[in-house]
Amino acid sequence: MFQHLSRLNPDAILGLMAKYRADGSTRKVDLGVGVFRDLSGNTPILDCVRRAEQRVLADQTTKSYVSPAGREEFNAGVAELVLGDSHRVHRERRARTVQAPGGCGALRVGAELIRIAAPAATVHVSDPTWGNHIPLLGSSGLRLERYPYYDPVTHELKFGDMLERLDEATPGDVVLVHACCHNPSGADLSVCQWRSLIELLERRRLVPFLDLAYQGFGDDLISDVAGVRLVAEALPEVLIATSYSKNLGLYRERVGALIVISENESRADAVRSQILQIARSIYSMPPDHGAAIAACIFADPALRDSWLRELAAMRERIRGMRTLLADELRSATRDDSFDFIRSQRGMFSLLGVSAAVVERLRERHHIYMTSDSRMNLAGVLPANAGYVAAAIAAELAAAPVAA
Ligand code: LMR
Repeated sequence: MFQHLSRLNPDAILGLMAKYRADGSTRKVDLGVGVFRDLSGNTPILDCVRRAEQRVLADQTTKSYVSPAGREEFNAGVAELVLGDSHRVHRERRARTVQAPGGCGALRVGAELIRIAAPAATVHVSDPTWGNHIPLLGSSGLRLERYPYYDPVTHELKFGDMLERLDEATPGDVVLVHACCHNPSGADLSVCQWRSLIELLERRRLVPFLDLAYQGFGDDLISDVAGVRLVAEALPEVLIATSYSKNLGLYRERVGALIVISENESRADAVRSQILQIARSIYSMPPDHGAAIAACIFADPALRDSWLRELAAMRERIRGMRTLLADELRSATRDDSFDFIRSQRGMFSLLGVSAAVVERLRERHHIYMTSDSRMNLAGVLPANAGYVAAAIAAELAAAPVAA
């Protein structure tokens, strides 16, 4: 049975994680996988999570099954966090939220729903996009195409090209958009650009699928969903995949949700029943522990306040490292070509250098980033920023800047 199977290369991001772990150098720097790191380089458990977890364990009376929809108070908390409690789609009872195993699970369930509802639809994804978008959505059998989004050499959005390409999409196609903190570029749409995109989606009858994995890592929990709320206000059908890996640091607990907005209440109920069937046929039901913690934090004012403070501290730390690395690169390269790092948002920026330079940074300097030169800025520390900048400057002096 297995004789025809060839051995696959590891996933680009997870493979890099393994290489980093195996590197014995004391100088090694991990700018690879997207996890938050504190000033000591650790990925801490948030204090609000520890407190909520103790409460969950103390109150838990059973490990019996929940349901394919997961925990209802978690789903209600997610809907409020993403759309606000007075959004029109709540008044019109058009949104349904279902817990999923992480943002990946939400994306995959969303893709399966699209395949059932519109098997001929193409999903348009940004170029560049997160490395796992293509396997996650493509494995459901949907056709994928890329729309221009960001130029890693000029460090600018290609917004005009994006609109031009999407204007050629077939009505009924799906457009995957990063809701905030674009992974890998750190370049987001302005509110004005969201409005132009919404006008196009409406006119061309395209369905938005919003990937919201970094709510709170850009400006704050509310500003980061400004685009999402505008889309939900304007369009009859919207899918939103959310993740609590980053903003609650619940990575390994796999906490996420899929929100689907439909044209009216009865279609929303039909969609929900389809989602539950999809969940049942893949993993039956999502893991409960992380969602129980998240639900406890969403509902308890003191825990929620503590979360907001910790989230702000994570965001500020990354912003601080953006400034520090840009300053160090300015002095190491004696020019300002890396100043764009300062103002981009979220965890990532694309350095904009070739895969050969990325490889030399890894092999000669033990600095790890994905081959598209994506850097996780949370991996930069005051203690390594100068070293990273000097290594980049040295390797660039030996090779031209080209993505
Ligand atoms: C990343 O982009 O590095 C993270 O979202 C982790 C992952 O699963 O790829």
